[in-house]
Amino acid sequence: MEADGAAAGAAALGQRLAEGGQGHVLRFWPELGAEARRALAAELRDMDVAEINRFFRRARGDGGGAAEVTAAGLDARMQPVPRDVLGSASRDRELLPRWESRGLAEIAGSRVAALLLAGGQGTRLGVPYPKGMYDVGLPSRKTLFHLQAQRLRRLQQLAEEQHGTPCNIPWYIMTSGRTMESTKEFFVKHHYFGLKKENIIFFQQGMLPALGFDGKILLEEKGKVAMAPDGNGGLYRALGAHGIVEDMERRGVQSVHVYCVDNILVKVADPRFIGFCLEKGADCGAKVVEKTNPTEPVGVVCRVDGVYQVVEYSEISLATAQKRGSDGRLLFNAGNIANHYFTTAFLKDVVNTYEPQLQHHVAEKKIPHVDITTGQLIQPEKPNGIKMEKFVFDIFQFSKKFVVYEVLREDEFSPLKNADSQNGKDNPTTARHALMSLHHCWVLNAGGHFVDENGTRIPAIPRLKDANDLPIQCEISPLISYGGEGLEKYVKDREFCAPLIIDEDGIHELVKNGV
Ligand code: UD1
Repeated sequence: MEADGAAAGAAALGQRLAEGGQGHVLRFWPELGAEARRALAAELRDMDVAEINRFFRRARGDGGGAAEVTAAGLDARMQPVPRDVLGSASRDRELLPRWESRGLAEIAGSRVAALLLAGGQGTRLGVPYPKGMYDVGLPSRKTLFHLQAQRLRRLQQLAEEQHGTPCNIPWYIMTSGRTMESTKEFFVKHHYFGLKKENIIFFQQGMLPALGFDGKILLEEKGKVAMAPDGNGGLYRALGAHGIVEDMERRGVQSVHVYCVDNILVKVADPRFIGFCLEKGADCGAKVVEKTNPTEPVGVVCRVDGVYQVVEYSEISLATAQKRGSDGRLLFNAGNIANHYFTTAFLKDVVNTYEPQLQHHVAEKKIPHVDITTGQLIQPEKPNGIKMEKFVFDIFQFSKKFVVYEVLREDEFSPLKNADSQNGKDNPTTARHALMSLHHCWVLNAGGHFVDENGTRIPAIPRLKDANDLPIQCEISPLISYGGEGLEKYVKDREFCAPLIIDEDGIHELVKNGV
């Protein structure tokens, strides 16, 4: 009876796939064992083939959707961000205390949440586990997740101290089928890094199959479809599927800081950014750093046909990326660092109304796959298919009040993208050095000094002998300072030998104490 039922199920599945022109994915069904058949059937059962075909046609530019824009077509329509929507941490210094205290008041009222995009596969870094679990080799050996969790704890504490009420910053963590289990296990193993378990909400984004250039689903193995997460803009569908906006409303959250996992300097739930967006009455905002090198791989925030969006580094032509304004700066210099502000109300509108209008971006990739005629595994040397992804910033176009907040790169942006062996950019070494250089500055700004092994003061800007020379080794726990505040009591008028660590247990000078 059961076998009959399974056979009928497989036949129905086969028919549905064949009707969608994807019947080939069952080509190796007769060769599969019972377990492999069950797994493949389960994978295909939830797959909406008609929708996938529609996505493909739309992304490819037929079927009534807008075509993937060519760089040449896009360039002529791009305009830089106008000054009146821009706030700047360096040029508007006198306004920072106001923005900060507004943001802290919101945090104190438990009206702010952080939302981490952690569903990526970290292909460039090349580790088999989620990027947030990466240890870049800081003296403390803290991972990216650990640093972010401690920044949230410190912020809660700062807000409580200033406003005298206990508060929570709910932390929503989006994972994918590939990262969910290991991410959760990691948090359990580390006791949620001291945060309350009920304030950390994991949810999973969707996956889409990789397709050949002809729109046919590719198989990773004879009984397994080549699946990939549907891009960080898969966030909005996932918010709807898992009732996350309702959860935010239940908790009274009104402002959400959405950010990427890989920036070691990220100011999670940054009160200044939140306060700036609130003061401006924005429903949507982007934090940027000045892009100074035309070929840097960051997207730029700009307007296209008068509508705000990010033009990705892969979508802009070199000629446009190199354009300069009359002040000599790059014309398109609002470098997207994937830190966004949304009101909960705006997210609700996106989930309920706008999400289906978002179009997938197409990335041509070399996708290992099983040849459907021979059954052999092919490792292509040139792109053989596409992955379709939505991008988190694609909802800027729906904003009624959009703002941009510019911060200093050395304070807030050092992403971990590549392995050390690949190239000298955005790797564990540059991330580690960026964090320690920043903390070195914090100590100097708070009146501390560094001395060498002979007790001679090291100049504030130490001369590095060559590119391999290390910066001053200095690490301050986020539990002690979120953004450089409160360090005077530890360091003012004192001299230190690097490496210096300041954490909840006090001050550790590793060399002096021989630790
Ligand atoms: C991203 C930005 C780019 C910005 C750069 C700065 C996007 C689409 N692009 O580019 O404009 O200049 O960061 O560092 O945001 N992720 C998911 N699910 C996915 C894919 C990715 O959650 O399906 C997450 C990753 O875990 C990561 C983040 O999104 O936290 C960014 O992904 P990544 O692919 O590294 O983006 P970049 O190409 O570096």
